[in-house]
Amino acid sequence: MRTRIIGTGSCLPETVVTNDDLSKIMDTSDEWISSRTGIRERRLVKEETTASMSIKASMRAMENAGVSADEIDLIIVATITGDYVTPSTSCEIQAAIGADRAVAFDINAACSGFMFALHIADAYFKSGIYKTALILGAETLSRIMDWNDRSTCVLFGDGAGAAVVRADETGLLAYDQGSDGARGKVLACRNRKNNNPLVKKPMDMEYTSMDGQEVYKFAVTTVPSSIKRVLDEAGLKVEDIDYFALHQANIRIIQSVAKRLKVSEDKFPTSLDHCGNISAASVPILLDEMNRNGLLKPGMKIVLSGFGGGLTWGSAVLEW
Ligand code: COA
Repeated sequence: MRTRIIGTGSCLPETVVTNDDLSKIMDTSDEWISSRTGIRERRLVKEETTASMSIKASMRAMENAGVSADEIDLIIVATITGDYVTPSTSCEIQAAIGADRAVAFDINAACSGFMFALHIADAYFKSGIYKTALILGAETLSRIMDWNDRSTCVLFGDGAGAAVVRADETGLLAYDQGSDGARGKVLACRNRKNNNPLVKKPMDMEYTSMDGQEVYKFAVTTVPSSIKRVLDEAGLKVEDIDYFALHQANIRIIQSVAKRLKVSEDKFPTSLDHCGNISAASVPILLDEMNRNGLLKPGMKIVLSGFGGGLTWGSAVLEW
């Protein structure tokens, strides 16, 4: 039994914000942002929410898979920016699409979240508990950015990506994941502070902070090793892989991973130029773009890899 991706969908907010737009409201430039990151524009929410984009992405993935709501056993949303602490985004999706039989819950593994959700679905399938799942990465990161901190806010965007996965004869061939909580503070966003009657402190808003260079070093060392491990486990070589769909954090990270693996950058499709970094949503949105652009053919071997906050990472090799 293997876990196969049988449909993909995504949803981006309507409003495009270019680097030039940002340079009108803060001290930055298209040259600084695009040369260091590869990002040219991102979409930011106005009326959209994490749930509204997730619902659209889910419906597109189900349509693409030819699967109806009553076939879904499990819904997992990877997010750090759910609209509510409770109910979960996955429960909101369940209600909206009418997947009454499904069990629904959210997980937090930051930018690796979609990869962790894939692995959870795989474990459920292997144990025989469930057969069909809807898994998503969905974020409204613009809500947790400090818009006075130009070193972080220019990097991130909003959006949702979904995949329908099913127990099948082919699909996920190997998986690798890990966490390094000791280094977690290099990319952090604190939750609400204690404001109970014992302390009565004023509530400060908390935003994302990042040590960009430490995150960069983590990514360029951890991701190639993780990819090598999944390839070894699957008995494959880098030459056997048709595409490497990586978390879209920074073009320099992607170029460095390609170089370390000795693979042409052409095998690393990107969406970060028009999406920015959308944390857990990056990998499924990229996968949906590849799928809808006709890049993915049955039998192709694809590597997926997510990495980021926690710190966490997860890589998979699958047959399409
Ligand atoms: N526009 C213009 N200047 C900016 C800026 C912006 N948006 N943000 C920062 N700067 C300035 C800094 O203030 C600094 O100025 P100074 O030298 O006068 O102090 C200068 O640019 C260099 O900043 P630095 O942080 O050293 O740049 P860098 O080369 O490390 O690049 C990142 C910064 C964030 C692009 C880079 O570290 C990176 O990509 N890290 C990985 C981040 C990431 O991918 N995170 C998500 C992982 S899931």
